[in-house]
Amino acid sequence: MIKSLLKSFFYRFGYSIHKVRPTGARAALEAEKVGGRLLPLIHAESPFAHFPLGEYGEDLAGWGSQSVAFDQLLAERKPQRIIEVGTWKGGSAIHMAEVSRRLGMEPEIICVDTWLGAVEFWTDQGDAERYGALRCRQGYPTVYYQFVANVLHRGCQEMITPFPQTSTIAALWFRRYGVTAELIYIDGSHEEDDVYADLVSYWDLVRAGGVLVGDDWNWDGVRLAATRFAREQGLQVVHLADKWYLEKGGV
Ligand SMILES: C[S@@+](CC[C@H](N)C(=O)[O-])C[C@H]1O[C@@H](n2cnc3c(N)ncnc32)[C@H](O)[C@@H]1O
Repeated sequence: MIKSLLKSFFYRFGYSIHKVRPTGARAALEAEKVGGRLLPLIHAESPFAHFPLGEYGEDLAGWGSQSVAFDQLLAERKPQRIIEVGTWKGGSAIHMAEVSRRLGMEPEIICVDTWLGAVEFWTDQGDAERYGALRCRQGYPTVYYQFVANVLHRGCQEMITPFPQTSTIAALWFRRYGVTAELIYIDGSHEEDDVYADLVSYWDLVRAGGVLVGDDWNWDGVRLAATRFAREQGLQVVHLADKWYLEKGGV
């Protein structure tokens, strides 16, 4: 009762639910208990257990997955936690895991994806790379299982944690658990409103001294959203190879 009165009071003065709800101090403690790893908080059982790997070959087809920008940023920033929004078959996540391993690091890479594709995956049934690769069964995509197989084929299951959710709901979960990351890679929807919403949701989750990295500067939606967001926040967009990034100050 008192709580809801307090909330109505704050709302009247323009505070959003994010500002009113206490940050996930207790939830963050839970993350601490599992060594800071989020996998046991997201999954009751490892998503890699009992997988019929023999039924799947390796197929890492993706876009911009092996960029040297990742190599450079990983070496520079040495992240302990990475959040990726938009994973598809796991190309970029597996590349980041392998580069990290070569650098002697073992960050947890949390992969947020619905594994249902973005809008452009559903607009051309002749597109084998997108619509075809969703591999619909009874009308529902099964590409997630190819991602799981790829992670296992490359032996990256200790570093990669799938989070099969929309970027919005996953961001709420991270916020509730007080989760932040040194590197956040945004490569989900490329529609302007969606990219802008992802930037708003995930910028707050970048730890001081960390970076928010984006793909596909050549997509109008990405470029317009990133430019608007950077201008509003007084940030500089930095271009590195085929990626762009925003740096969070404050260390
Ligand atoms: C361009 S692909 C990611 C490519 C990947 N990074 C690679 O290296 O190949 C975009 C992915 O974003 C996911 N996606 C699109 N909108 C999303 C949303 N709102 N929430 C979660 N995932 C989303 C799609 O399911 C798709 O797998």
